[in-house]
Amino acid sequence: MSLTSGRRAPNVGRVVTTLAPPRRSAVRRFWASTIGKKAVMAVTGALLLAFVVAHMAGNLKTFLGAGDLNHYAHWLRTIGEPVLRREWFLWLQRAVLLAALVLHVIAAVQLARRDLRARPVRYVHRQPPRGTFAVRTMRWGGATLALFVVWHILDFTVGAVNRDFVPGDPYHNLVADFQVWWVNVIYLVALAMLGLHIHHGFASAARTLGVTRPRRERAIRIIGSTTAVVVAGGYALVPVAIMTGLVH
Ligand code: HEM
Repeated sequence: MSLTSGRRAPNVGRVVTTLAPPRRSAVRRFWASTIGKKAVMAVTGALLLAFVVAHMAGNLKTFLGAGDLNHYAHWLRTIGEPVLRREWFLWLQRAVLLAALVLHVIAAVQLARRDLRARPVRYVHRQPPRGTFAVRTMRWGGATLALFVVWHILDFTVGAVNRDFVPGDPYHNLVADFQVWWVNVIYLVALAMLGLHIHHGFASAARTLGVTRPRRERAIRIIGSTTAVVVAGGYALVPVAIMTGLVH
C-alpha cells in the first residue's frame, strides 16, 4: 500500500493522510475482470482445439497401416532436428498445452464461483432457464475431459493402463487397447463430451469476442457444430474400426 495524498480537511485545518488503493498492473486488472477471464478461456480454448484437430488428423494415419502411423509418431519426436534436439519440440508442446489447460480450468472455476456468488438464491422456476443445460454440460463435461486426458496419457504415452503396451509402437498399442469393450466405452463417452464441449465452447468464445449479430451467431453455431461432429466423429473412427475388426 502506498501513502499518496495529503490534503487539508475542511473545517479542521489539519492535514490528513489518505490511503490510495494499491496500483495493479494492466495484466492483473485484465485477469481480475470477468471479460479478461472469458478472453483467456477463449484463447486457450482455441489453442487446445488446434491441438485436438491436429491430433485427430494424425490418428487417421491408423487407416494407412502400422508403418505409416508409427513413422508419424517417430516424426513427432524429431520435429525441429537438427536445430532442436530429439523430443525438444514435443516437450515444448507439452509445456504450452499444460499451461493453456491450467489457465483454461482456473478461469472456468473462478468464473463459475463468481456466477454462483452473483446468484446465491436457487432459481424458483419449474423449468431451468435456457442456457443452464449448456453451462452444466460445459462444467461436468470439462471435468470429465480433464480426467480422460490423465487416463489417456497413462494409456498410450506411459503405458501404465494399456493391457499390452509396447514402447514406440502406437499402432500395436491402439489395436491391443480397443479390443477391450469398456475401454471403447471410456473413449466414446469422452469423445461425446468433447463434441459437446466444442459445440458450446465455440458459441461462448464467439460471444466473448463480440459476435452478437443474429446472422453471424447462426454462422458461428453452424461452424461450431460442424467442427464438433468432425472432430468427435474423426476420433471415434479409430476405436470403432478396431472394435469391428476393420483394422487389426
Ligand atoms: C480415439 C481417440 C484417440 C486416440 C486413438 C488417441 C491416440 C493417441 C496415441 C496413440 C497417443 C500416443 C502418441 C505417441 O506416443 O506418439 C496419444 C497421445 C496423446 N493424446 Fe490422444 N488419442 C485420442 C483422443 C485424444 C483426445 C480426445 C485428446 C484430448 C482431449 C487427446 C490428447 C492426447 C495427449 C495430450 C497425448 C499426449 C501427447 C504427448 O505425449 O505429449 N487424445 N493419443
